[in-house]
Amino acid sequence: MSIAIICPNRDVSDWVVGLQRLDPALQVEVWPDIRHPEQVEFALCWNHPSGVLRRFPNLRCVSSLGAGVAHLLEDPSCPPGVPLVRLVDDALKQSMAEYVMHGVLDCSRGFARYRHQQMRAEWTVHQGPWNAELNIGVMGYGELGRYVAKKLADFGFTVAGWSRTPKPADTIPVLSGHDRLGDFLAKTNILVCLLPLTPATQGILNVKTFGHLPRGAFLINVARGGHLVDDDLLEALDTNQLSGALLDVFSEEPLPGNHPFWSHSRITITPHIASLTNPFSAVRQVVENYHRAMAGQQLRNVVDRDRGY
Ligand code: NAP
Ligand code: GLV
Repeated sequence: MSIAIICPNRDVSDWVVGLQRLDPALQVEVWPDIRHPEQVEFALCWNHPSGVLRRFPNLRCVSSLGAGVAHLLEDPSCPPGVPLVRLVDDALKQSMAEYVMHGVLDCSRGFARYRHQQMRAEWTVHQGPWNAELNIGVMGYGELGRYVAKKLADFGFTVAGWSRTPKPADTIPVLSGHDRLGDFLAKTNILVCLLPLTPATQGILNVKTFGHLPRGAFLINVARGGHLVDDDLLEALDTNQLSGALLDVFSEEPLPGNHPFWSHSRITITPHIASLTNPFSAVRQVVENYHRAMAGQQLRNVVDRDRGY
């Protein structure tokens, strides 16, 4: 019985240390140096090569090494009868909240403008908007979206969420379903995308969506590149429908060197680092799910394959 870590181009030594510290009896193998594929019963995957899971005939569980699972659902070698789980982790939520808060404050406080002023040794004070005057719309009100929304509300921003299914009434209003998307967008000055990538959400950040936003809205995409129609963002910026965008995720990663986003003055790019999984925090649930899978017990954070998240 062993766990295989399949994360090409990433140093996973902290994962190995963390897993074995928690359970010294655990056999951990790191792809591609897997000596006994038939003994692998639990696969921990990130950016795994499509098709690789076929090499492990005795899998009892496949786990994403992050919150998202689109990479696994898209892979035909991910065995249909084997449960798929993902990470839900406090450290992941905290780090996502830090990133989004940084993006919101950078935008709301106009730091880019002050950076430009500094180059000219210019001392000019710009007033407002006040936090409560800014409406922040969080698309995707799940584990991360909910946490981020609450942190933003604690800072005094006016926050709303959007989800697939209705939520109980709370201090943060949540609109649900595609019928309410237009209403949600119409009040959103800063749009934060924290949706999972599914057939229903693919390309959702498009010209129509941007058209519903108040003029000059700002976009933060920290979910997946497949949510965004790149040309529609460029057009929305050219026409000033959007004032700027902070992008952490891209349809193709790494973002190709000749992509127009790199040189756009109103786009800020980070290399998919909004919330990196902290192995020392996340190993606990991996080990727990490993033991549950071995004992045939109900797993934590199981993905609903039909729903796509
Ligand atoms: P989650 O707990 O599964 O929440 C997903 C949310 O999206 C739920 O509120 C769900 O609605 C909503 N949703 C799904 N399909 C929808 C649709 N068609 N229309 C409206 N709402 C829809 O996911 P999570 O853990 O918060 O993670 C969200 C995503 O963040 C991940 O899938 C991943 O791609 C991304 N992520 C990025 C980074 C990064 O570093 N950039 C790090 C971690 C995660 P219901 O509540 O009604 O089900
Ligand atoms: C990162 O993108 C994740 O899904 O955890």
